[in-house]
Amino acid sequence: MGSRIAIIGTGYVGLTTGACFAHLGHDVVCADLDPGRIERLSQGHLPIYEPGLQDIVEAGIASGRLRFVVGAAEAAKDCEFAYLCVQTPQGDDGSADLTYLQAAAADIAKVLPAHAVVVNKSTVPVGSTKVVERVLGRHDVSVVSNPEFLREGSAVSDFLKPDRVVIGSDDPSAATRVASLYSDTSAHLLVTDPASAETIKYAANAFLATKISFVNAVAAVCEAVGADVNDVVLGIGYDKRIGHEFLRPGPGWGGSCFPKDTRAMVKIAENAGYDFNLLKGVVVVNDEQRERMVTKVRNAVGGNLAGAVVAAWGLTFKANTDDLRESPAIAIIDVLQSLGAIVKAYDPQVSQHPSINVGSDPYEVCDGADTLLVLTEWDEFRWLDLDEVKRRLRQPNIVDTRNLLDRSAALRSGFSYQGVGR
Ligand code: UDX
Repeated sequence: MGSRIAIIGTGYVGLTTGACFAHLGHDVVCADLDPGRIERLSQGHLPIYEPGLQDIVEAGIASGRLRFVVGAAEAAKDCEFAYLCVQTPQGDDGSADLTYLQAAAADIAKVLPAHAVVVNKSTVPVGSTKVVERVLGRHDVSVVSNPEFLREGSAVSDFLKPDRVVIGSDDPSAATRVASLYSDTSAHLLVTDPASAETIKYAANAFLATKISFVNAVAAVCEAVGADVNDVVLGIGYDKRIGHEFLRPGPGWGGSCFPKDTRAMVKIAENAGYDFNLLKGVVVVNDEQRERMVTKVRNAVGGNLAGAVVAAWGLTFKANTDDLRESPAIAIIDVLQSLGAIVKAYDPQVSQHPSINVGSDPYEVCDGADTLLVLTEWDEFRWLDLDEVKRRLRQPNIVDTRNLLDRSAALRSGFSYQGVGR
């Protein structure tokens, strides 16, 4: 028999968590403040593109195990578990803003049944479990940290087949009850204290961002010494201690997590008395990477961006998502346009943008352009006809910030090709 779970917040984490828990057999009620959003979700209309999510939401609705209501209290009033999946945006000083989390806790404090367990799924600073306990003011309710490690574009499989489930609680029985929700997933289970669980989340994202900034810095060295970063990554990655994962050079990391979580981790350390210089360097390298991509485009069009026409493939922060939040592609295009370049962009998941001219065909955006600029690693870009692209471009230049295209084929077709680190 499944458990009764309330999900507070139907954003990317809340919706995925709720639908997957229903898929695992639990009885799930998802709540949001926005009636329109709840109405559309109840009809199976999702506000986000996430592979596989549409199917399990529809199955959950059809089975009656997944429902949507307006207001946190409505969902939490007869739950056994209340998952807080609200946004924790970056505050002005870089620390996480807990306004929404505290508001959600206050909303459910009055209606939570005795012995319910409140679960922090949102990415929250170390010590937030105590913040939620204080707001709830309920001694018959436990608060547990259960951070998520979902990647956009693979969130459903990341939830159903997690590398690990982390539970942070000072109450062993509450931890055991939360762990039982995941009993149908074959995952390593780590039960620890709340501070450690919250630190695991930030340390994981900080380390992943560090890997990417490291390979982007190595790519810069490769360009300077004439090495090929693809072979360098292959060569170091055979060492099991290093591995090949997450060592793809690119325009820098973006998205709704890494930029926010790296700055929050620096702030958490600083507030606790440690100057996290290493992570500050990771952020600096990432900011510089975007400038390096702009320089590649400037070189491709002959040194002056004013009036240059650029065909951009990709706007999302990475492939297999429709998310534009903190997208390096958007940041790079903004700089190019501010320097006078005329950009026409294509992205399979984006039809319009307030400040960028978005086309509906990857070949059309190449018409009359002085260079093609690949910004997001959509698989479909690999198979487009480079001879057709060359016919449409005004000059046969490619800047490939993802090392996505076949460089040899491009050179054979007469393009000048700039990748990253090669
Ligand atoms: C990340 C973490 O992976 C996930 O565990 C956490 O829960 C949320 O944050 P996400 O932001 O969805 O997930 O995307 P991810 O696949 O990690 O990529 C983050 C950024 O790094 C993207 O801009 C991506 O293009 C970039 N990236 C990733 C690289 O540039 N090179 C790589 O090798 C991998």
